[in-house]
Amino acid sequence: MEKTFYITTPIYYVNDVPHIGHAYTTLACDALARFKRLDGFNVHFLTGTDEHGQKVEKAAADAGISAQDFTDKVSQNFRDLAVAMNFSNDDFIRTTEPRHIVAAQEIWRRLLASGHIYLDKYAGWYSVRDEGFFTESELVDGKAPSGAPVEWVEEASYFFDLSKWQQPLLDFYAAHPDFILPETRRNEVISFVSGGLRDLSVSRTSFNWGIDVPDDADHIMYVWLDALTNYITAAGFPDITSDTYQTRWPADLHMVGKDILRFHAVYWPAFLMAADLPLPKRVFAHGWWTNEGEKISKSLGNVIDPYVLIETYGLDATRYFLLREVPFGNDGDFSSQAMINRINADLANDLGNLAQRVLSFVGKHCGAAVPTPGTLNAADHALLARAESLITRLRYHYDAQAFHRVLEETWEVVGAANRYVDEQAPWSLRKTDPERMATVLYTLMEVLRHLAVVTQPVMPQAMASLLDQLAVPASARTFTDIGAAGALAAGAALPQPVGIFPRYVAA
Ligand code: MSP
Repeated sequence: MEKTFYITTPIYYVNDVPHIGHAYTTLACDALARFKRLDGFNVHFLTGTDEHGQKVEKAAADAGISAQDFTDKVSQNFRDLAVAMNFSNDDFIRTTEPRHIVAAQEIWRRLLASGHIYLDKYAGWYSVRDEGFFTESELVDGKAPSGAPVEWVEEASYFFDLSKWQQPLLDFYAAHPDFILPETRRNEVISFVSGGLRDLSVSRTSFNWGIDVPDDADHIMYVWLDALTNYITAAGFPDITSDTYQTRWPADLHMVGKDILRFHAVYWPAFLMAADLPLPKRVFAHGWWTNEGEKISKSLGNVIDPYVLIETYGLDATRYFLLREVPFGNDGDFSSQAMINRINADLANDLGNLAQRVLSFVGKHCGAAVPTPGTLNAADHALLARAESLITRLRYHYDAQAFHRVLEETWEVVGAANRYVDEQAPWSLRKTDPERMATVLYTLMEVLRHLAVVTQPVMPQAMASLLDQLAVPASARTFTDIGAAGALAAGAALPQPVGIFPRYVAA
């Protein structure tokens, strides 16, 4: 049977300019999507924009244009970011698209038909910034827990009977211990749900920018019900007999930031259960970045612009840093010093130098062709075995969304290769034992090939360049080429080597 993998990012609010938070969530998904493709999965990787709601309506009004014109214009910023970051998403969904409106209204009809939605009146606090409802007791110093201002809202509203889903949700979490990760977040969700759930207001009448509630022109759908549905829209819902739906739904992974976990791990599964639809297999909540120790905020003016990072440090170095520096799931701090340290130590020094030294030596002293190895000794076999078996450990870490572990394990092999160079001293074998020199260089090139193949998901461009320099054909760069199957052909001509990771020198 075909192996499939459906992975999603949150859909981003269009009123913001793309910042490191957006880039981070999608980057993690991109690395995983690329890994799964190389591992033979039919991957569907979805990202997109969340375009309805009061916040967007206000932003459009401030800009003096219609909400539709506003979203058409600013959603492009997120497509541009995807190109700039070299994201490999297969689809980009906008919640203003007809396919999504159809799907969201169908979910609504299902919830209504099964008796899980009823009409009443909402009176309570609402935060436009969070697009969330709060009770008096949830407010902190008169604000939402996130610090966002709240306003008093009193209006006719449809409600979803979330209170009835407490036990089914708890049972589901218990039966699926990997549904919410990391575990600390899972525990938080369980304790929140254990504390009891209130029915949820799922429609608004006081503004217009949203999806119409079917058969009630006064109401539009609550933006989170609309937004969460995007994941199943892109799987072909409501056409549930289609191949697309059958192969994609339920999603394998919803990647989200910790701030929006509750919507994904409580509301969304409850909506799906109530609509009698299968639940996604996992929701992973990652942490937040601070900037040089400070919380990132527009008002502090310390928002990290991904374009500036790419421009300053290079795209693949930025991708590497974001996934390597912080254990995925934890909060982390961005600092330019930490970035420079990673670039100069891990990339320029450890991997870049290794590749450069081997390739330029082969270029000069082996006729710019893959050397012909003699018999491999124990040290050669040991190093190659480490490089070849890396994939098994990486599969495990990718499946746990432990991107930092992926890179740590990979760099252990880089370290072993550097020690091997020191021990085998190929440069001094040139005069004394050219055959042994060829064997050592061949072994090193094979190790570089494996490192490049498995690191493509994180640094696609740099690793493509390294594979080009090793004369690995484009058709031999997947995980089926690991080991003997893709071994470098002795005698193959090599191009002129070029450095892949320059040292960062402050301007
Ligand atoms: N529109 C909703 C999601 C709907 S999904 C059905 C939304 N949009 S958002 O534009 O605010 O999303 C932002 C994403 O970026 C979230 O995953 C959030 O956690 C992430 N980040 C925002 N700031 C961040 C940091 N400082 N650090 C890391 N990620 C952060 O929420």
